[in-house]
Amino acid sequence: MGYRRETQAHPLIREKCRELIFDNDILRKIGDIFLDNIKKGLAKATHPTAVVKCFPTYVQDLPDGTETGKFLALDLGGTNFRVLLIELSGEHFEMKSKIFAIPQHIMLGSGEQLFDHIAECLAIFVKEEQVQQETLPLGFTFSFPLNQKGLTIGILERWTKGFNCSNVVGNDVVQMLNEAIGRRGDVKIEVCAILNDTTGTLMSCAWKNHDCRIGLIVGTGNNGCYVEKQENAELFDDKNRGSGKVIINLEMGAFGDDGSLDFIRTDYDREVDKHSINPGKQTQEKMISGMYMGELVRLALEKFTKEGLLFGGKGSDLLFERGRFYTKYVSEIESDEPGMFTNQKEILEELGLKHATEQDYVNVRFICECVSRRAAHLASASIVTLLHKMNEKKVTVGVDGSVYRYHPHFRNLMMEKIRELCDPSIEFDLMLSEDGSGRGAALVAAVAARQKKKVSAT
Ligand code: BGC
Repeated sequence: MGYRRETQAHPLIREKCRELIFDNDILRKIGDIFLDNIKKGLAKATHPTAVVKCFPTYVQDLPDGTETGKFLALDLGGTNFRVLLIELSGEHFEMKSKIFAIPQHIMLGSGEQLFDHIAECLAIFVKEEQVQQETLPLGFTFSFPLNQKGLTIGILERWTKGFNCSNVVGNDVVQMLNEAIGRRGDVKIEVCAILNDTTGTLMSCAWKNHDCRIGLIVGTGNNGCYVEKQENAELFDDKNRGSGKVIINLEMGAFGDDGSLDFIRTDYDREVDKHSINPGKQTQEKMISGMYMGELVRLALEKFTKEGLLFGGKGSDLLFERGRFYTKYVSEIESDEPGMFTNQKEILEELGLKHATEQDYVNVRFICECVSRRAAHLASASIVTLLHKMNEKKVTVGVDGSVYRYHPHFRNLMMEKIRELCDPSIEFDLMLSEDGSGRGAALVAAVAARQKKKVSAT
C-alpha cells in the first residue's frame, strides 16, 4: 500500500523537547537543592525567608487502627469541594459524602463569602444526613499553605491553585469557618483539626500500612509531607511532645520560587507562570501538577504548529486558546496503545485539528510524554530526597491526586526513577491513597481525640 507507519517523533521536535528531559545528574542536583530548602524551612533562623516552608502540622501520632467514632469532614482545595460524614470502627469505615460546586466568583470573591458558602453546604449536608442535632467533631482538610500554631489554628500563608479570596491571607481559617457557622446558627460542630491533603493522604495510608511515613499529592496542585523528629522541627512549640515526631507539611509546590530551579525552566514554564493568578509563586507546582500540565503541552503544540512542525503549520482557534488543552487529554492520549491513536484522534477532532496526520499523532504523543515524564521525575527527585533524609530501612509513600491516579504511566515512571536514584538499601513503595482528604480528616480528628483522652488521664 506504500503506507509508512510513523513510529518516531520528528527529529526537530525531539531536539526541541530535549530541554524537558532531565538526566539523573540533573535530578540529583535538584534533589540536593531541595534538601537545602527543607533544612532552611525547618530551622527557626532561616524559616522566614525559606521558600519551602516545612510547616509543622501538630499531628504527632499516626493511626493505629483502633480509632472509632463519627466525624464530619470538609475537603477544600482539590478538584471538588466535599462534605463528608465518616464512621470509623476498628478495621471498618463507612463514608457518605456530597460534592458541592465552588463557583468561580466565590473562588475569587471575599473570604467571608467563601466561608458562608462552605457553612451553607455543611448545613445542607447535616440536614440531609439528619445529624444536625448532634455536635459532631469535624476535621477540615484545607489544601493550601497554612502556618499552623496548633491542631486547630491555621493562618493562611497564601492562596494557590485557582483560589484568590480577599481577606483570608494572614487570618486563621478555623476561626473564619467558626464565625460563618455562627452567623447561620443552625449547625453544631466542633472543629477538632485542620489539615492539609498531604497529611490526610499519609494518615489514610498509615491506617492500613504501618510503614507509611510520607504523603504526596500530584493533583490539581503538588505537595508532600513526611514524619520528622520534633527536635528537627524548630517551629514546633507544642508543650505536649508525646511521640517525639511530627508531620511536616513541606509546601514543596513553592520549591524554585527563589530562582533555584531557573536552570531547568523553559519558555513554556515562564509563559504558564506569567498568565497564572499567582505569578512568581508555586514554581515546582506549575511544572508538575494537573492545573498546569495541559497548558504546558498546549504551549508546545502551539509553538511547533507556528513553526510549521505540526499539523502542516495550520492550527485551530481552540488549539491557540489558553487553557483549552486539558490535563486529562494528556492522560487520555498516553492511554492509547502504542501505535494506536483512538483517544488522540477524538481529542484533536474536538480541537478542530481533523487534518492531523499519522506523524502528527506520533509527535503529539511524544510531547505529552515529555511533559508528564518531567513531572513524574521531578516528583521522584523530591521523594528520593525525603527517603535519604529520613534514613529508615523501609518507607511507604501514600500518594493521591488526579494526575497520579489517572495518568496511565505516572506510577511506573516514579517507581522506576526512585529505584534508580535511591540508595538500594532503602525499601520503598508507592501506595495509592483511598480518599485521603476525607478519611484522613476523620483520622486526624480521631487521633487527636485519643491523644486528648490520654493527656487528661495523666
Ligand atoms: C497547596 C498545598 C496542597 C497541594 C495539593 C498546593 O497548591 O499549596 O497545600 O497540599 O496544592 O493539593
